[in-house]
Amino acid sequence: MRKNPVIPFAIIAVLGIVTMIIVSSAGINQREAIHNEEEGGGEKQEETTSANPEEMFQSKCASCHGGDLGGGVGPNLQEVGSRYSAEEIKDIIVNGKGSQMPAGLYTGEQATQLAEWLAEKK
Ligand code: HEC
Repeated sequence: MRKNPVIPFAIIAVLGIVTMIIVSSAGINQREAIHNEEEGGGEKQEETTSANPEEMFQSKCASCHGGDLGGGVGPNLQEVGSRYSAEEIKDIIVNGKGSQMPAGLYTGEQATQLAEWLAEKK
């Protein structure tokens, strides 16, 4: 009796498909694990930045207002608290000012904390 020449190819094909399924389901699990890690990391970072207005300022405002609040592209903010209340500063952070001060760099709780910190600069 002659062997069917197709059978070895069929076995290889089936093995290949099974391997693909195993590898891709392992991949999905890994992706979920990475995704979960990223979510956790993101939350952690938000906590630390919102706890520290100075770091928030350094990361998004200092490029225009200077690392020492001394000004640059944007005005000097060293005495901004004597010109504006915390409310008004928060409004500037959230909504921007003029054509160059970008809106929405911080919003919500972070904007409030940063505004309160700046309002103390007198
Ligand atoms: C791209 C540059 C740029 C960045 C980034 C920037 N600002 Fe400004 N900011 C300006 C400019 C320019 C003005 C002046 C706008 C005007 O009066 O027309 C301004 C004005 C202000 C004012 C009002 C100051 C005054 O005396 O009238 C405050 C308060 C302020 N910025 C806070 C911030 C804070 C807080 C951040 C970070 C979240 C920030 N800015 C990021 C450019 C910037």
